[in-house]
Amino acid sequence: MSDSPTFWAVVPAAGVGKRMQSDRPKQYLPLAGKTVIEHTLGRLVDSGCFAKVAVAISQEDPYWPELDVSSNPFVITAPGGKERADSVLSALNSLGDTASENDWVLVHDAARPCLTVADIHAQIAALGHDEVGGILALSSHDTLKQVDALNIERTIDRSTVWRALTPQMFRYGMLKHALTETQGNPAVTDEASALEIQGFTPKIVEGRPDNIKITRPEDLALAEFYLEQQT
Ligand code: C5P
Repeated sequence: MSDSPTFWAVVPAAGVGKRMQSDRPKQYLPLAGKTVIEHTLGRLVDSGCFAKVAVAISQEDPYWPELDVSSNPFVITAPGGKERADSVLSALNSLGDTASENDWVLVHDAARPCLTVADIHAQIAALGHDEVGGILALSSHDTLKQVDALNIERTIDRSTVWRALTPQMFRYGMLKHALTETQGNPAVTDEASALEIQGFTPKIVEGRPDNIKITRPEDLALAEFYLEQQT
């Protein structure tokens, strides 16, 4: 195993974001003077951790070529896929000529523009010597209910439940293999789930609560507030 693996970032950015009810995919909505994705990619590039940032872009995407970041030498693109996992696999394949099996890949949603460089460094420090890798996650402060058709079935022990965030950090070879083997499986909603299905036990690294995913219109105002607080 190489002593000093290279770090790569992969950004799935080929979603349409239906829950935003906007005229364009959520990663292209304006946020504090830029688009959402420009904040996200800026944080990854500025961290200085990555050899390249591979971004999965939809083939019918007219917005990407308009952004300055599309010509950033640290940023390369790959065609997006049907599901998030297909987009991630496509971006991993685009690194195939240069990435090694034991290199690390941090997969981060384009729609999470408030990721801090400190969280990237903390994740790498926590997992850099791990065999498998792991994800940023948040513990739950609320009491959690398992529900069927708005009827509460039971209360879940919240100490055992964490909310998965990104980045999700795994070895290049292991992640590519897991995503290839689980292609089309609807249970694969993040990278960790593909590894779990393969029998691995990814780790949790506690992340910051301001690392929100832009999902609904009101999330933009919250993200703007967090970005202001972080500077
Ligand atoms: O829709 P959701 O918020 O779960 O998407 C998470 C991330 O995955 C977003 O950055 C989105 O652009 C990306 N995605 C993708 N390809 C898809 C679906 C989602 O790259 N087919």
